[in-house]
Amino acid sequence: MAISGLRDLYIAELQEARSFEALLTEALPKMAKAASEEQLRQAFEQHLEATREQLGSVEALLNEAGADLKAHEDQSMKVLIEQSQKMADMVVEGPLRDAALIASAQRIEHYEIAVYGTLATYAKILGLDNDHQILSGILGEEKDADDLLTDIAIGMVNPAGAEKEAGG
Ligand SMILES: [Fe+2]
Repeated sequence: MAISGLRDLYIAELQEARSFEALLTEALPKMAKAASEEQLRQAFEQHLEATREQLGSVEALLNEAGADLKAHEDQSMKVLIEQSQKMADMVVEGPLRDAALIASAQRIEHYEIAVYGTLATYAKILGLDNDHQILSGILGEEKDADDLLTDIAIGMVNPAGAEKEAGG
């Protein structure tokens, strides 16, 4: 059936988000395992916890809307995850693989930021205040995760600078 209204488009995008959060709950433990740097491994594990909560929040919104949880499967995230696993396998373990993992993870975060930005805007236009609040909250978490990855990457290039930042 063709989507002919913003609410239906909103639900379809929400179903896509549910799908990619579920994919990420499986991918993040593998990324954590592939990481050498303790800070990076912890970042992936922390983001796994956040991802599980996000998945629950998105499912709750779909349930409230009376929508099917599994109507859509996000193909873009599937490819991003496949690429990240391919890169991690190709690159020798250690700082270089960590750099590759960060690059992949930031691609994933930016994709999530794009989707949640859209979803929060749709919810606002549709007057779904609770949805808007929850989706804006998730958007903030994804941005924080992206910023943390940037900080870890800077710390890897310039360890002295990272210590200074952590200390101050
Ligand atoms: Fe997420």
